[in-house]
Amino acid sequence: MTACSMRPHRWPTWLCLLALCTLALASRPRPHSLKRRNPTYAPLSDQSLDALAVLSDRDEALDFDDPTSLLAKILVPRVSGTKNLTRVQELVEGHFSHLGWANEFDAKTPLGSKPMKNLVFTHDPSAPRRFVLAAHLDSKYFPTHPADQFVGATDSAAPCAMLLDLATALTPWLDERKKRVEELGGEEGREGQGETLQIVFFDGEEAFVDWTAEDSIYGAKHLAEKWSVTDTSPAPIQSTPKSPLRRISHFVLLDLLGAPNPLMRSFFPNTGWLFDEFLHSEERLGQAGLLWPGFEGNAYTERKGKIGVPERSFFVPRNAAGMQMHAGSIEDDHLPFMKAGVPIVHLIAVPFPSVWHTIRDAATALDLPTIKAWALILRLTVAEYLGLDPSIPPANANKKRKRDRSELVWPSLSASTQLFDGC
Ligand SMILES: *[C@@H]1O[C@H](CO)[C@@H](O)[C@H](O)[C@H]1NC(C)=O
Repeated sequence: MTACSMRPHRWPTWLCLLALCTLALASRPRPHSLKRRNPTYAPLSDQSLDALAVLSDRDEALDFDDPTSLLAKILVPRVSGTKNLTRVQELVEGHFSHLGWANEFDAKTPLGSKPMKNLVFTHDPSAPRRFVLAAHLDSKYFPTHPADQFVGATDSAAPCAMLLDLATALTPWLDERKKRVEELGGEEGREGQGETLQIVFFDGEEAFVDWTAEDSIYGAKHLAEKWSVTDTSPAPIQSTPKSPLRRISHFVLLDLLGAPNPLMRSFFPNTGWLFDEFLHSEERLGQAGLLWPGFEGNAYTERKGKIGVPERSFFVPRNAAGMQMHAGSIEDDHLPFMKAGVPIVHLIAVPFPSVWHTIRDAATALDLPTIKAWALILRLTVAEYLGLDPSIPPANANKKRKRDRSELVWPSLSASTQLFDGC
């Protein structure tokens, strides 16, 4: 009876019996039984104890009388949903970031373990379903020239900026829509307009050495895996799908965009209708004269050596010959979601921009009118998808838009922690 006799004072018999029973129950084979002790657990020598005491200046963190200490900064009213808690969260995040910890997961790459972090923003986390728009934020590492020279302008800086713009443009109407849903009343409102906009910035899309299933799309694989598990948090409505993956109504992936004259294809028959909606958006905005302001008609126009109005649509009609050429063969962040049955629209220029994976994929490869055209196409299609009506100005739209430029960036913890879904 070692557990009891080792103690300096004796345990009452009933306590020993209870302990025995607990031990007996705990040692019964269970599928995921907890190990009683970590196998690497090893007592430190006395000498190590001295080292332990001077590993860091504990006052820096803990001296709450010193206003610069971490504890002093945590020691404020910090109720969930308040600015104070946001600041404390930033303090904690900043602290771990400083220590190199700010990362959601470590990816095993051929060049060793790399810390990575996806950014996921959800306009209305309580909505049962999500319309996801995604792009990757990381730029490719090249061993041949310094990694700090390759900026991946089309790959995928421009798509990411388009998503930031989309959030800026639609937030007031998304807010308005959320209010309408709430006014309709919980379950009924959410059932009727059950989707919210979710924007994902993937980490680790690029391969570190050669693109393989293992060495690529680290962030997407991580997120799809994480989202495949059953969500145990309370469901917004009865019919809420049970895993975050199943809550995705459509997943639109943007990649290699921003250069002039891109060509999109519909790779997936089940989302052909949504691809067509993007095409229709381009058509309608073009007819309304909004897509290429300053370039009249549809004539080919030279503009500072770049192409003005494109000769053709960004979208290859689905019935066009050769459409199937690349179907499903392009590996990108959508793959793990596609394999899980999520409906995908892959907005990627095929053929790839000529600058792809070269040092020339820089600002010089980008065409501002093309990027602005993309932004409008995205706004229209997403607004239509979610039933937003931008012709009705939301009550506080202008006030919100008049903020400092630096504050307009959506993925800022300070903008609203509520938007941050974590990942
Ligand atoms: C936020 O913290 C400050 C102290 O730093 C405190 O005076 C204030 O009351 C807090 N605000 C809220 C809303 O809790």
